[in-house]
Amino acid sequence: MKVLVVDAGGRGNAIAHAFSRSEQVKEIYVAPGNGGSEFFEKCKIAELDGKKIPSIRAIDEIVRFAKKCEVDLAYIGPEEPLSLGLVDRLEEEGIPAVGPKKEATILEASKCWAKDFLKRIGVPIPEYANFDNPEEAKEYIREKFNNGIVVKADGLAAGKGVYVCDSVEEALRAVDEIMVQKKFGEAGNRIVVEERLRGIEVAFTAMTDGKTVKPFGHARDYKRAFDSDDIEGLRDFYIGLTKKFYTKAQIEQLYREGKLINPNTGGMGAVSPHPAVTEEVEQRIMEMVVEPIIENFDKEFKGVLYPVIMLVEENGELIPKVLEINVRDCDPGAEAKLPRLKSDMAEISMAVVEGRLDEVEMRFSSDYCVAVCAVSGALKGREGLKPGYPADHYTSQPITGIEEAMKEAIIYANGIAKTNGYVTTGGRVLTVVGMGQSIEEARSKAYSALEKISFPGMRYRRTIGLDVPE
Ligand code: AMP
Ligand code: GLY
Repeated sequence: MKVLVVDAGGRGNAIAHAFSRSEQVKEIYVAPGNGGSEFFEKCKIAELDGKKIPSIRAIDEIVRFAKKCEVDLAYIGPEEPLSLGLVDRLEEEGIPAVGPKKEATILEASKCWAKDFLKRIGVPIPEYANFDNPEEAKEYIREKFNNGIVVKADGLAAGKGVYVCDSVEEALRAVDEIMVQKKFGEAGNRIVVEERLRGIEVAFTAMTDGKTVKPFGHARDYKRAFDSDDIEGLRDFYIGLTKKFYTKAQIEQLYREGKLINPNTGGMGAVSPHPAVTEEVEQRIMEMVVEPIIENFDKEFKGVLYPVIMLVEENGELIPKVLEINVRDCDPGAEAKLPRLKSDMAEISMAVVEGRLDEVEMRFSSDYCVAVCAVSGALKGREGLKPGYPADHYTSQPITGIEEAMKEAIIYANGIAKTNGYVTTGGRVLTVVGMGQSIEEARSKAYSALEKISFPGMRYRRTIGLDVPE
């Protein structure tokens, strides 16, 4: 069979890699894909009239490609094309697709709606309130603040619309940025303000055909840009960001006083399986979170459901509280989970679109995967010093050593292009995945492979897979 994977990043390449391990699959097209999409057997970048698909938002081109190429199945990676109705369009053309239809993306596309829904059906969540008026939100923050508060833009904000705040001032500023300055446009017309939870965060995923729902692996996601002791890294970043000079001692002091934050990112690495998720915890998450969502959601949902969970200790028990729901797989969690998938990806996908997921056994290897992201860090170039990911960064930097690294680890590209050699095209550049019987073994493979790779400004965290606080 012929499969189309829609994604531009490392998650898409991990999905395509999973399909490439299926004997039923003859060809896999990735749209738009990137310079690393053809690293795996049978995988090709989709081309329409000799041209690549321009972006994940190019719905018309994607549908035209799928028809012209007569693909048997499409699998959609990111939320954006889903919320633009790509699955609806593909199905109209008779092409089965793994991923929810537009109306079902509300679970991710409106955090306010999702919170109200979860509360109504009794899924554990942090205490919260929704606002469409900034002054009322500020009043609530002043009244409720107790050891931290979180402010979130209601709509899709490319993972940037969440402010985890340590002080009332920070939270009030977040309200202004989202609702008054409209940093995320319409996505900030409404906000959720919620209690800050402390616990163990889990990127949990489940696959569903709308009736049956099965666990689809889980990961620990490392979201902070820098290791907590990486004062040098923070210094380079903040000098690049503010264009002011700081000594190492000044940065250290500001950081320890909480006046300077270790920025949140889309993810700097991941480990799968999540070390804290025992079979019992997995079952609890399925029963308390995933199953009630699928049972009570009044719209058809098929594809990957990815609730972000905080395991919170209450009266000696671990309670899974939902921070948000995503309607697609995690990135870079997918890069850490999917190499462990033993079941046939094509069989799972066909069962999902045909509504017979109950017939499929979902098997994962007991091995661990450690996925480490190499990102575009601080770099001085023609436009002066740039701070690097997650802020402004240089691209088009030449990358060396990918082939060498591939001998030791799996390489999923997040943002690279192939010209004469490989060059960087984004903030996250490569996700290097080591696999082994222990986290330690997986870690050492990933880090050894990373040492083979080099590009100007390359940076990665050293503590992925270690038991460090995030
Ligand atoms: P979200 O996009 O809602 O998953 O939020 C992004 C990140 O912010 C999460 O992965 C958490 O690390 C953090 N976060 C969100 N909500 C909370 C909360 N209520 N308490 C603590 N951390 C949170
Ligand atoms: N790593 C966070 C996400 O995929 O949403």
